[in-house]
Amino acid sequence: MAEVAQNLPPIEELFDPNSQDYMENPVPQCLALARRGPIVWYEPWQAWIVTRMPDIMACWKEEPLSSDFYDWEFAPPRPPEEQWSNFERAMIGHSLLAEQEHHRLVRRVTAPAFSRNVVDKIQAKIEPEVQKLFDALGEPQVFDYKEAIAQHIPFISITRMVGIPEKYWPEIKQVVMTFTEAWNPTISDEQREAARQDSNRAIDIIREVIAERRSAPEQDDFLSTLLRIEAENDGFEEGDIVTLILALIGAGSDTTLVAQQWSVYALLKNDRGEIAKALASPDAFSNAFSEINRWGVSSKMGFARYAPRDMEFMGQQLRKGVMVLMMPHLKDHDPDYYDDPETFDVERVFDPDVMFGYGPRYCIGAALAKRQLYLTLSELFRRFPDIELAEEPERDPDDHNAVVFRRLLLKTNLAG
Ligand code: HEM
Repeated sequence: MAEVAQNLPPIEELFDPNSQDYMENPVPQCLALARRGPIVWYEPWQAWIVTRMPDIMACWKEEPLSSDFYDWEFAPPRPPEEQWSNFERAMIGHSLLAEQEHHRLVRRVTAPAFSRNVVDKIQAKIEPEVQKLFDALGEPQVFDYKEAIAQHIPFISITRMVGIPEKYWPEIKQVVMTFTEAWNPTISDEQREAARQDSNRAIDIIREVIAERRSAPEQDDFLSTLLRIEAENDGFEEGDIVTLILALIGAGSDTTLVAQQWSVYALLKNDRGEIAKALASPDAFSNAFSEINRWGVSSKMGFARYAPRDMEFMGQQLRKGVMVLMMPHLKDHDPDYYDDPETFDVERVFDPDVMFGYGPRYCIGAALAKRQLYLTLSELFRRFPDIELAEEPERDPDDHNAVVFRRLLLKTNLAG
C-alpha cells in the first residue's frame, strides 16, 4: 500500500473517528487523512476513502459505484424474492436504490412534491407543533434542548409532511426511529431483526394510511401529491410511495437530530452577532446552515458506495462488494479550501454548496430540513433572546455516524 512504501504510519494511527480526540477536535485527523492521498485504504472499516472534492463530486454525479446496501460484501445475504416480507420489498426493491434508470424516474416525477411551494405549505403545518413543544417547555431556567425540543422535531416534521393522521402517531412513533438501525453495519443480528420487525409494522401502517387516503378527498400534503403523481405516471406505483416515505423517515430522522444540536451549539458558541444574521430569513438561514455544518464537522463516516463488480477506480483495483466512502467533510477546515476556516461566518459563500450532496442523489429533503431548523431556532431565540450554553456538552461516544452530544443544557437567563 502507498503509505507502507513511503514509510508513513498506518492511517488508522492518525485517523480514528471513534476516538475521544476526534470527538473533541476532528480537524487534525481530517486533515491528516486528506493529506494521505485522493483515495486511501482504511483497514479498520475494510473500506476505501475518497478524500477530495473533485473526485467526490464526479462520483456523486456519474455514479460509477452502487448505492445499494445489499451490494456490500458484509451485508446480510439478499434473501430470495419469495421470502420477502414488507421490509425486504421496501429495502431490496427500494425505488431509490434500484437500478439507476428507475431511481431517476422516481426523482423526476416526484420533484414537484418537494418544491418550495409545498415546503411553504408544510411549514404552516409544522409551525403550530413547534409552538406546542415550546409551550410545554414553559420558562425554565435551564433545560436540555435535545430532550425537550430536538428529538421531537424529526417525527413531527415527517408525519406532518407526509400527512399521517394523528390517530396513527402513538403506534408509528415507536417504530419510526428504529427503522434506520436496520441499515447500520455495526449492530448485532438481534438488533437488526428487531429493527426489521419494527420496519414491517411501520410499512403496514403506511399502507393503511395510503388505503384510507385513496378513499378520502385529496388533502394538501405529500401523500396526496404522490397519489396524484402515481395516477399520472406509468412505472411509479404504490411500492414506490411506500419506499419513498421510508426513505424520508430513514434519511430525515438522525440527520435532523444532529443538525438541531449543532445549529444551536454553533450559534451559541460563536460571536452572538451571527445569530441575527443567520435567522434574518429562510434564505439567510439556508446559507448559515452550510456554515454551521462546515464549522462543526460532525460527520464520522461519510457517504457509502459499493463496487458492483471487480473494477478499477481512481487507479485502484476494487474487489466486488468493497465499500467506498466519500468524505466531503475532510475539506471543512482545510485552509487550502476555505479562507480563515476557523472563523464562523454565516455569510460565507459556498460554491458549490455540497452539504446536501450533489447530482442525481441530491438530498430530497434539503428544503424541508432547512425550513424546520429555521422555524425551531427562530422560536428558540424569540422566546429566550439571552439564552446561552449552560455547560460544554459531553460528546456521546456511542454514535458511530456523527459527533453528537449526550445532552445540550441551555441556560435561559430569564428574569425571575
Ligand atoms: C440536516 C439534515 C440533512 C442533511 C445534512 C442531509 C444530507 C443528505 C445528503 C448529503 C444526501 C446524499 C447522500 C448520498 O449521496 O449518499 C442525502 C440524501 C437524501 N436525503 Fe437528506 N439530509 C438531511 C435531511 C433530510 C430530510 C429531513 C429528509 C426527508 C424528509 C431527507 C431525505 C433524503 C433522501 C430520501 C435522500 C436520498 C436521495 C436519493 O437517493 O435520491 N434528508 N441527504
